[in-house]
Amino acid sequence: MARQIVTGTAETGEDRILASDSIRPQRLRDYIGQEKIKDSLQVYMKAAKMRGDALDHVLFYGPPGLGKTTLAGIIANEMGTNLKVTSGPAIEKPGEIAAILNNLQPGDILFVDEIHRLNRQVEEVLYPAMEDYAIDIVIGKGQTARSIRLDLPPFTLVGATTRPGMLTAPLRDRFGVVGHLDYYSVPELEQIILHTAQKLNVEIDDKGARELARRSRGTPRLANRLLKRVRDFAMVRYDGGITAAVAADALDLLEVDQFGLEKLDRDILETMIVKFGGGPVGLDTLSSAIGEDAGTIGDVYEPYLLKTGFIMRTPRGRVVTASAYEHLGYDLPAE
Ligand SMILES: Nc1ncnc2c1ncn2[C@@H]1O[C@H](COP(=O)(O)OP(=O)(O)OP(=O)(O)O)[C@@H](O)[C@H]1O
Ligand SMILES: [Mg+2]
Repeated sequence: MARQIVTGTAETGEDRILASDSIRPQRLRDYIGQEKIKDSLQVYMKAAKMRGDALDHVLFYGPPGLGKTTLAGIIANEMGTNLKVTSGPAIEKPGEIAAILNNLQPGDILFVDEIHRLNRQVEEVLYPAMEDYAIDIVIGKGQTARSIRLDLPPFTLVGATTRPGMLTAPLRDRFGVVGHLDYYSVPELEQIILHTAQKLNVEIDDKGARELARRSRGTPRLANRLLKRVRDFAMVRYDGGITAAVAADALDLLEVDQFGLEKLDRDILETMIVKFGGGPVGLDTLSSAIGEDAGTIGDVYEPYLLKTGFIMRTPRGRVVTASAYEHLGYDLPAE
């Protein structure tokens, strides 16, 4: 597979993607978990190949670090086509997306990360491109302006977003395949950690992997990152291998607790308990009390706190649950 970044390297951090390529699974069979998505992709990719068509457009959504970008690369590998990478905020003008589209080869995968951040005019170029493999270009100005239609080769747009609710309906409707990525189970993360350890030549036993997996908040990116930090700790403080005890020690030092909560997670819960009597509290109020961006809290922190049952959503805002009081060592309020 030829991987090419078409725009916006700095902003999207795609250099990081390339740098971590060695631990990124390259084929569907090496991609752990997300069975529903894998099963349907397998069918759609096979059918497209049998017909000699491009795969239908695919949208992946879910919290950060769960493997959306990885899946886009896998699709290109499995289809035997090129992957072109860009992102919503990197494309500013309709002409830029038109140029990218115009340079595609038949069957190419165009990956648009953070697709909810495309602006309206750019999005409008995508509608006919996705639906009819064509773009409309306006030439000339004023009275003599006319629009001509340029045909594109059949291609596959793979969009990724952490915020599916922010996509416009016309864009959302043009994806034939939609995959929702959910947090990974502890056994799945354990497998991912063992694979990465093998690739990085890190010595780790099953119990060490399990301890890391339990504290990786369901997220492969975090699991891989914690593995690297704990490896350093194991090398310097112990004599190399990662056991459950070494992992637990190192993660305590990193302030990652038994549930995978980090300091900011605990700050959120503590602030809700101490300053807001457990809630309900709105996202913006909470964000200014903590001094952290509301978008970051909403996209990154809140989904995991909801998933683990430390907070709940109510019509009047989020509230902390009894398990949050217990976990942080606060007495439950009287009512
Ligand atoms: N199913 C999986 N099996 C093994 N490793 C995985 C899997 N999913 C993700 N990873 C690893 O986790 C890391 C993060 O994945 P990726 O960059 O694809 O996440 P993402 O969903 O695109 O995140 P973001 O929304 O932040 O861009 C990668 O380094 C990849 O190697
Ligand atoms: Mg990504």
